[in-house]
Amino acid sequence: MANSSKTKVAVLVSGNGSNLQALIDATHQDRLDAEIVLVISNRADAFALQRAASANIPAVCLPHREYPSREAFDAAVVTQLRQHDVEWVVFAGFMRLVTHVLLDAYPERIINIHPSLLPAFPGTDAIGQALDYGVKVTGCSVHLVTADMDAGPIIGQSVVATHADDTPETLGARIHAAEHPLLVRCVQAAVTGQLQLTARGARRVVAGGIVTGVSSSAS
Ligand code: GRF
Repeated sequence: MANSSKTKVAVLVSGNGSNLQALIDATHQDRLDAEIVLVISNRADAFALQRAASANIPAVCLPHREYPSREAFDAAVVTQLRQHDVEWVVFAGFMRLVTHVLLDAYPERIINIHPSLLPAFPGTDAIGQALDYGVKVTGCSVHLVTADMDAGPIIGQSVVATHADDTPETLGARIHAAEHPLLVRCVQAAVTGQLQLTARGARRVVAGGIVTGVSSSAS
């Protein structure tokens, strides 16, 4: 049920939406003091749109190919966010680079989740990159979005061990399992005002940030 006293959050998606589902479940279970007021997808076939519909959350599809530029697409996103009085934006598997049109509308108010321990393995196929490199630990990171891809100040990270016989699918499953609780904790920290700007300009979570330990099995 709508609760106007809660922080209004929009979630931007492009695909399955399991991280969106984790956020929805957390709001229903009072683990997240936020109201998800809008879901935006740039893909009509994103299963995340069905998750939003099942949870009675307003959802819109803005197919990026219908816009003449990234800026025009971002302007359409900002219009939707403004119409819903959105305060924080979460990228949960949103596979688009954004421009200053969106960044300037929500300065230090956009959160992204990425399946590696940043700054290692930014960009696409982070899980494949980690396997190819042979790292013994990888994981996932939640960070503020800036103009540079996957480079904004880190809010929280969760460590996942790699196994010698891992495939992208097996490692990806364990990273995904680690992403869901991490994203909920980091969004909760954001909407409850626990992010502070440090003297060096980085945002960190008060009391040292959110770090969760090695997780070697899917749960
Ligand atoms: C996640 O692995 C996230 O880190 C990356 O895209 C994936 C989205 O998964 N940015 P889902 O759509 O939330 O299931």
